[in-house]
Amino acid sequence: MQRFRHAARVRFVFLMPIVGVLLLGFFWFFSQPKPTQAVAGLPATRTQTLSPVLSPQVPASNTPDILIGWNDLGMHCMNESFANLAVLPPYNTLWAQLIQPGATPKIITVGATIQYSFVDNTYSAGKTNFWQYAAQLFPGSPSATQPNIGLKGAGLAGNMGAASDHFIIEGVPLTPYRDSAPAPGPADWYPYQLAHLVAKDSVTGQVLAETTTVAPVSTEMRCDTCHADGMQDGIATGNVETNILTFHDRNEGTNLMGSRPVLCASCHGSNALGLPGNPNLPNLSLAMHRRHAEETSNCYLCHPGQQTQCLRGVMFQKGLTCTTCHGGMAQVADPNRRPWIDLPRCGNCHAPQFAENPGKRYRDSVGHGGLYCESCHGSTHAILPSTQPNDNIQNIALQGHAGTLSDCRVCHGVVPSGPGPHGIFGTLFSGGLYLPFVKR
Ligand code: HEC
Ligand code: HEC
Ligand code: HEC
Ligand code: HEC
Ligand code: HEC
Ligand code: HEC
Ligand code: HEC
Repeated sequence: MQRFRHAARVRFVFLMPIVGVLLLGFFWFFSQPKPTQAVAGLPATRTQTLSPVLSPQVPASNTPDILIGWNDLGMHCMNESFANLAVLPPYNTLWAQLIQPGATPKIITVGATIQYSFVDNTYSAGKTNFWQYAAQLFPGSPSATQPNIGLKGAGLAGNMGAASDHFIIEGVPLTPYRDSAPAPGPADWYPYQLAHLVAKDSVTGQVLAETTTVAPVSTEMRCDTCHADGMQDGIATGNVETNILTFHDRNEGTNLMGSRPVLCASCHGSNALGLPGNPNLPNLSLAMHRRHAEETSNCYLCHPGQQTQCLRGVMFQKGLTCTTCHGGMAQVADPNRRPWIDLPRCGNCHAPQFAENPGKRYRDSVGHGGLYCESCHGSTHAILPSTQPNDNIQNIALQGHAGTLSDCRVCHGVVPSGPGPHGIFGTLFSGGLYLPFVKR
């Protein structure tokens, strides 16, 4: 459906100098943020739009390099309580690329360290009861013995590790609760947490670059919509999670109530956790979407959510919903899909020059100059510009406006004469405008 767009863009470059000045005002006007739309199956009202925290995340502008950070997923979902059952643990993964700007920009991974921390969020134990149950749920993991430490050993502040072309920290046990509003529960939910990254020269300690990016996390899973006391088979244990376990035990002859806390993925494999589960049982994604396919088509009852509104990127603003990209419950429950791997591709809908690398997910693909897609576009479900102000902080700081990182001068210093990302040329008007000079 998008295949016409690039050719049109190329033709447009020749007309641009003539009509450009006239159209500038027009595009400026129409590129103002549109009101959010009501979409099938999703609530029209956004109950929460968080205002950006303005300090201390504005990056210093006088540093020599450029740092771009992002969360691998557009949203990480974790349980509110781990006392009875665990679908997903606290586990945010941040990536970053450090770029030395210039006529030929360079991606740097050697000779620099990147420190990460979170704005107003320095601890997790107490904001979640995860560590009370971690030894039973994830025996042998670093979380089993150390509070505030994630399943791969990451804390809430520290150094990212260097990989071949990026920096990464996996499995930070972040919660949606700030230190200044730490009470578990919807009142203090702050799902668009801010990670602060600082790159330093490993020898001299000089600050090379810093940035602030979103680390999204939510505990909004509304199983209680249908599993509250009395709603299924009259089961009423006084707690939605024990209702679910009791129901599962009744239907399947299991003894989950007697095995609490229960890690669903110990029997139903999950690629998110890298757990194979019992090969004779359906994986967790298949089990959940298949069993609930007849019950609902509202993804926000289990995914975050009516309040969190994890789908917030540019395509949401253009009316796309979960099912436009993923299909409905039955498609998600297709037993031939590999959950967490066989996910939608940008290339399914956009022209080939906008596709992922062959066989790879969006989050694993690189584009222009070896930069990850997510470094310019943001993470899945938050494809920039986003309706959540925190998502836009980084690119506003880098190029002066929200939206895709499109200003060639951020990395090149000047507007190069050759083609840039996806074959798009920079324009001489201003690095903030690019074909077809829609300003975002
Ligand atoms: C829209 C209502 C609805 C929501 C939301 C919902 N469920 Fe269910 N769930 C049901 C119904 C109805 C059944 C019984 C379906 C059947 O008998 O085929 C069920 C069945 C189950 C079962 C039993 C499976 C079995 O072995 O029979 C489990 C476990 C379960 N749900 C877990 C959850 C969890 C966890 C959540 C939240 C992440 C959730 N459900 C959200 C309606 C819902
Ligand atoms: C001890 C192993 C075990 C654990 C732990 C477990 N289950 Fe199950 N589950 C089963 C078995 C066995 C079945 C029946 C599978 C079948 O009939 O193919 C089942 C079936 C289901 C189904 C229905 C699948 C379908 O396709 O209809 C759902 C949904 C489900 N489990 C959800 C969960 C959730 C959510 C958790 C965590 C709270 C969980 N299970 C934990 C063993 C387990
Ligand atoms: C514009 C298309 C699009 C829409 C709309 C969309 N998704 Fe996705 N979703 C994707 C893509 C692409 C991926 C895979 C990202 C990757 O490659 O890592 C994905 C991945 C996911 C994942 C796996 C975790 C992750 O973040 O990678 C979940 C869960 C998910 N989507 C749920 C939803 C739900 C729920 C909605 C609606 C609220 C939704 N998606 C709307 C495109 C979309
Ligand atoms: C009844 C609860 C429930 C509903 C409703 C639901 N999901 Fe999920 N979904 C889950 C759970 C639980 C997981 C985590 C599975 C795991 O950890 O492997 C999940 C994981 C996923 C994933 C990642 C794993 C995969 O299969 O690739 C995608 C994508 C996804 N859901 C899409 C959707 C979409 C789209 C909808 C709406 C059409 C939807 N879900 C509705 C419970 C639900
Ligand atoms: C289900 C099809 C579908 C998928 C999958 C999809 N897109 Fe889109 N995308 C669209 C549609 C439709 C539009 C809106 C076009 C319009 O109205 O101008 C759009 C618009 C956009 C825009 C705004 C473009 C503009 O010029 O306004 C960007 C950026 C974008 N998509 C990036 C992505 C990325 C990145 C991915 C993969 C993570 C992706 N899309 C996956 C269908 C899709
Ligand atoms: C150096 C920055 C950069 C990188 C890296 C990058 N893009 Fe883009 N991308 C852009 C710009 C600039 C546009 C123009 C439209 C816009 O600003 O949204 C664009 C547009 C798109 C669009 C919308 C196309 C349309 O039809 O309007 C898609 C889809 C897309 N990119 C996918 C990707 C994918 C997939 C990757 C990784 C393989 C990637 N991009 C890497 C800068 C980048
Ligand atoms: C986020 C940083 C970034 C942005 C934004 C960016 N580039 Fe680049 N560009 C790079 C990197 C990195 C390379 C790879 C340099 C190398 O090692 O060859 C590159 C390479 C190039 C090259 C190949 C020639 C060379 O200098 O090595 C051209 C031409 C180019 N970019 C044009 C553009 C244009 C035009 C834009 C704006 C539409 C743009 N770039 C935006 C980072 C960027």
